[in-house]
Amino acid sequence: MTTERTRNLLVLNGPNLNLLGTREPAVYGTDTLDDVEAAAVAAAESHGWTADCIQSNHEGDLIDAIHGAPGLADAIIINPAAYSHTSVAIRDALSGVGLPVVEVHLSNIHKREEFRHHSFVSAVAEVVICGAGIAGYRMAVDYLAAKLDAAAGSATR
Ligand code: DQA
Repeated sequence: MTTERTRNLLVLNGPNLNLLGTREPAVYGTDTLDDVEAAAVAAAESHGWTADCIQSNHEGDLIDAIHGAPGLADAIIINPAAYSHTSVAIRDALSGVGLPVVEVHLSNIHKREEFRHHSFVSAVAEVVICGAGIAGYRMAVDYLAAKLDAAAGSATR
């Protein structure tokens, strides 16, 4: 008999996202990081999945979390925050572990300052969602659940 592990998502939030709720509410809304993580976990559970959520203000901690994902997580949802626009290291970590990645931004980075228009992470993400606020995390979970459950279904057929 084979016992299949429940599918798990790693949800990573980068620097300053711990300030959500009070940080520039006109840009990021009033949802807190707890709200964002609870929404991701609830969306995962609605598919029978689990989600582990990590927020860090430190690039190396995010990279270590990405390196630890294989074997624990089936896919990664990441809002790299400001590191999106600066971090080749996070991009390389994501590409190095080879798990499906969805990049999420609460705000529409393309409507904002020019330095936010480029993300190093987007080139290694399957999907990029920006401007949908907290709903973007739910969309990311729904996308990954549909994709990976469909892939598992076709593999057993
Ligand atoms: C952000 C957008 C980034 O440009 C910014 O540095 C953030 C948050 C977003 O979720 O909209 O910290 O990733």
